[in-house]
Amino acid sequence: MKQAIQITENMYWVGVHDFNCRHFHGNMFPIEDGTTYNAYLIIDKEITVIDTVEAEFMDIMLERIRSVIGKRKVDNIIIQHAEPDHSGGFLRFMQEYPNAVPYASNAGAQIMLKQYFKDYAYHKVKTLDEINTGSYTLTFIEMPLIHWPDNMMTYVKEAHVLFSNDAFGQHIAGYELYDDKYTLNKCLEKAKEYYANIVMPYGDRVKKKLQDITELNLEIDMIAPSHGIIWRTYINELLEAYMDYATMKPENKVVIVYESIWRHTQDMAEALAEGIGQGGVAVRVYKESETSSALIMSELLNAKALLVGSGCYNNEIASNISGFLTKLSTCHIKNKKALGFGSYGWFRNTTAQINERLQACGFELLSDQLLAQNYTPSQDDLSALEALGQEIANSIKNEAE
Ligand code: FEO
Repeated sequence: MKQAIQITENMYWVGVHDFNCRHFHGNMFPIEDGTTYNAYLIIDKEITVIDTVEAEFMDIMLERIRSVIGKRKVDNIIIQHAEPDHSGGFLRFMQEYPNAVPYASNAGAQIMLKQYFKDYAYHKVKTLDEINTGSYTLTFIEMPLIHWPDNMMTYVKEAHVLFSNDAFGQHIAGYELYDDKYTLNKCLEKAKEYYANIVMPYGDRVKKKLQDITELNLEIDMIAPSHGIIWRTYINELLEAYMDYATMKPENKVVIVYESIWRHTQDMAEALAEGIGQGGVAVRVYKESETSSALIMSELLNAKALLVGSGCYNNEIASNISGFLTKLSTCHIKNKKALGFGSYGWFRNTTAQINERLQACGFELLSDQLLAQNYTPSQDDLSALEALGQEIANSIKNEAE
């Protein structure tokens, strides 16, 4: 029988594991080892549930709830976010607990109606609205467009617990529910990967929301997100890291992403990497078609520069590189430089087009040079690229001083 897991006095995790999830949000975010959909149960004079889980897992969530409350009824259901990984089980929940009062942000209530076609007379709440469940006060904090219009958090002041919904989530799927069961490095790497792939386009809002939370002066002993582990030990490190993510704070690192059929563009990528690496700057080199897009986005988040390479395919940029550039165009890139490169044959080169798209994404170009190679780069061409890589490394190091 599936059991709830107590996280603090009167509060329980009643979520589910999706161990086999490899494609989070469709194919937008490939993941390696599953995730969790976290939901929570608060026992008080009134019983409250925070979020549900994906519809297919709802029986498990209900079993976990019953493991604590038996035949008692749930009084309140907080819908922090209408995306189906958290609201998919809502209809089933309401069949089980038809008298539960649903709370959602105004945007959340509208989206729920559009998704599930039934008006449950949602109680619409906004930032700093409160409900009292007996001993506990639940305070709502909206965070619109981090990353849907409706996301909100719920703070329980008597317990110092912040239920943060998607914010501060990560894909760690285990029964060890707390951050301190893992290394700080692993927790922050997973949080960074999640941020880079879900939240990156909303950095300005994240920065503002972090400032708002600081100004509210909340005492926080536990941050309980809707995916992955619960933070209780690394909270300060997490908040500091999130501010770095929000501002895309760069490190001395260059990411190279390319596509290549006959190695010509690949040889260019590797010559540039050689120069950058020999120049003492960290460099990550990814053939896009062979690499998890989640890894590329995560490495890019704190890189200082990006080099994007493509051959010319039927007079166009490779379709996967074009898709990558489209994704970047939504990310409101800050604090980063970039440059295109690539080999071409009988049609025009596409390097200028890559550069234009990089500038449109918010990157400043690293150089005026057009790195367009007609067919195979010679040894002299590769040496020139290595030298350019060294120059890029030097400029990056100088910028840091
Ligand atoms: Fe985890 Fe935006 O859903």
